[in-house]
Amino acid sequence: MKKLLIVGNWKMNLSVGQSSLLVARLDKHITAHRDIEVVLAPSMLALQPLAQQIDRRTFRLAAQNAYHIDEGPYTGEVSFAMLQDIVHYVIIGHSDRRHKFHESLDEIKLKMAAALRCDITPILCVGETKHEHTAGETMQVLHDQVVTALSDITAEEIERIVIAYEPIWALSSGTDYLHHEIPAPDKIAKISAAIQHHVAELYGGKAADGVRILYGGSANASTAGGLLDIAGIDGLLVGGASLNYKEFAGIVDAAHRSRKRQS
Ligand code: PGA
Repeated sequence: MKKLLIVGNWKMNLSVGQSSLLVARLDKHITAHRDIEVVLAPSMLALQPLAQQIDRRTFRLAAQNAYHIDEGPYTGEVSFAMLQDIVHYVIIGHSDRRHKFHESLDEIKLKMAAALRCDITPILCVGETKHEHTAGETMQVLHDQVVTALSDITAEEIERIVIAYEPIWALSSGTDYLHHEIPAPDKIAKISAAIQHHVAELYGGKAADGVRILYGGSANASTAGGLLDIAGIDGLLVGGASLNYKEFAGIVDAAHRSRKRQS
């Protein structure tokens, strides 16, 4: 059975001091479980101090982004190579980056390859806009996002990657995650199967089976259990609710219960 992955994407929130306080609170409320990985993605600035602070039996760290070239004249960027000893994971192609920072499919492809070269597990985010959703273009959009991002990856590397399905229309504003509309479970299951199918077409069924698929979009402590029980969903990418320690600890509790039900 694959390990469940619960990732908290703090986005551009919390100072270093606030980040440290949140970790201290999470540490009191979350217990380690061998079948569940709890990953925190704070700001770039907080990664180094949190790497010293976290209990590595309970938490792992992720970067929210990085640059694909190792070093050189790229003012303002931080490379995957620089993050190598600090993080286990990196979020790549989040819709904030695709849409607010105009990251292209090609850039995302380069980042995927760079992360794997630096031994950092990429969490590739894919998902359709509201407009694409209503126009019935979801499957085509996901196909293009998955196939381009994976095109420079070897068959050995593919089993290490994580893909997060994040419909952009279901993402919270950061605070309205308790009441936001999210896709029906059968839709999420169908999309997870389609993503698995695209990976299998490129690398074969065995490699595709190793890929973990997450759901992201307004997940919270009361919806987490149902989302984790969906066939083909191996974890959650959590934004707004990950900034509230009770809510995030509740999501991890739901993961514990989901694992118990499935074992
Ligand atoms: P949300 O964000 O849980 O606040 O919707 C998820 C994400 O953007 O990764």
